[in-house]
Amino acid sequence: MVVPLRFLFLLSLTLFSTLPTHLHASFSHQSHIELPSQTHQSSQKQTHLHFFYHDLRTANNPSIVQIVDTPKNVHSGYGSTFIMDDPMTEGPELSSKPVGRAQGIFGMASFMLINFAFKQGDYAGSSLSMLGRNPIEEQNREMPIVGGTGVFRFATGYAIANTVDHLSTFEHYVVEYNITVRHH
Ligand SMILES: *[C@@H]1O[C@H](CO)[C@@H](O)[C@H](O)[C@H]1NC(C)=O
Repeated sequence: MVVPLRFLFLLSLTLFSTLPTHLHASFSHQSHIELPSQTHQSSQKQTHLHFFYHDLRTANNPSIVQIVDTPKNVHSGYGSTFIMDDPMTEGPELSSKPVGRAQGIFGMASFMLINFAFKQGDYAGSSLSMLGRNPIEEQNREMPIVGGTGVFRFATGYAIANTVDHLSTFEHYVVEYNITVRHH
């Protein structure tokens, strides 16, 4: 018993004595890396986005399509997976101003991955990527915004999704999104 303990003690001494050298070495090798500064922080913007998207399961031109079916021996819907390319609008009506497309994939159990591609206004040509857990029976579903392009480079934030129940049918499902995002 005595020998391993002494060994451990010696090992920890060795670790402590080499640690500062390693830190010093890695910093001096990577001295070109910019550390966060006041300038970087003040150039960050916070933007709030509010829009709706429409899951259309109409016979002609559906915007969501099931690509993986639930296996025969599974009864809960677990495993079924969909791909989507939904119209995004400013208001809850499909006829309101189009703002872009919500393109992604989602499936059971509750996972969702969407790229919001903005096509109108200040954000035209930019996109936000969202990846999270979307239990559709709940209200105020929160999902992380994990990145973006264009004006949304370096984006981080969160989305709050709510189904607009009074407008939704099986063939036309309306979801409201509120997104708060910080970006450069
Ligand atoms: C979403 O944003 C709209 C418009 O800014 C606001 O009226 C609504 O309360 C927000 N909803 C949530 C759940 O944050």
